[in-house]
Amino acid sequence: MKKILVLGSLNMDFVIRMKDKPEIGETILGRDVELVPGGKGANQAYATGKLGGDVTMLGAVGDDDYGEKLIQNLQDVGVDTTGVQRLGICSTGQAFVSVYDSGDNSIVVIPGANGRISKKMIEQNKRYIDECDYILMQMEIPLDVVKYVKELGVKGGKKIILDPAPAVPELEDDFWKGISLLKPNETELAVLTGQKVHGKEEVVKAAKSLVEKGVETVVVTLGGDGCILVNRDRVQCFPANPVKCKDTTAAGDSFIGALVVALSEGKDYENAIGFAQEVSSIVVTKRGAQTSIPTRVEVEERRKEKVE
Ligand code: RIB
Repeated sequence: MKKILVLGSLNMDFVIRMKDKPEIGETILGRDVELVPGGKGANQAYATGKLGGDVTMLGAVGDDDYGEKLIQNLQDVGVDTTGVQRLGICSTGQAFVSVYDSGDNSIVVIPGANGRISKKMIEQNKRYIDECDYILMQMEIPLDVVKYVKELGVKGGKKIILDPAPAVPELEDDFWKGISLLKPNETELAVLTGQKVHGKEEVVKAAKSLVEKGVETVVVTLGGDGCILVNRDRVQCFPANPVKCKDTTAAGDSFIGALVVALSEGKDYENAIGFAQEVSSIVVTKRGAQTSIPTRVEVEERRKEKVE
């Protein structure tokens, strides 16, 4: 089996449920608050592990209970966490996730240890890069580290997969060269390209501009409208599975995690996206980040039910 390395953030999520987003200056009553393991990097590693991928996580937590819990959660689904550093000088990353009755959310992240990941730390752990086939990253860790690992990965012939969240505007053209797969949502695509991105035509135009700059394949996720794949050979739309959405947290993370697992098993994009959509359509029907990610068996059963 091909080896996947996830480099990214680990956060403890403080999930607050409420009817709707408060206005500026407004005070509202929330329904409840829950602590759930999260962080875009950790969610993606967790999803790949739970879905049967061979995955190692590279990242950092503080030397505290949250860090301990996050590492344990990854280990429980078979993720190799020997690359997760425990830093005594800062706390584990925290995310304050507001979830509205519509299922949508807003998130504020306090990076903590995630913000301390450095090129030096990568150099000291370079063997993880040498040993893997796929490198999956997001942007909740310092950008210079993402760029550095991308360069190392490209030099080493690795497949570079990037979930550009949170998106950064005006990245230099060279940044895009060598990225095998980029998975923005519409908002992120607009930030990355500086273009207006509303509706299929604008999505395809903006995604093509990144393909022109060197990204091999762009898969733009569109929530309830599915996703669009754009590369030099084709543009293909994949409608979403209709479900009743409870909480969209980690929908994107589980989608890209599942996609990488399927690609690492040799599936083509058509089949890999079908699998990833099945996974994220289960995730949005459950609460929380890692708590909502299904096992491989649950996904296969859901697919069988549909065929029968
Ligand atoms: O993508 C969802 C994740 O974003 C949450 O788990 C939160 O920790 C933030 O990183």
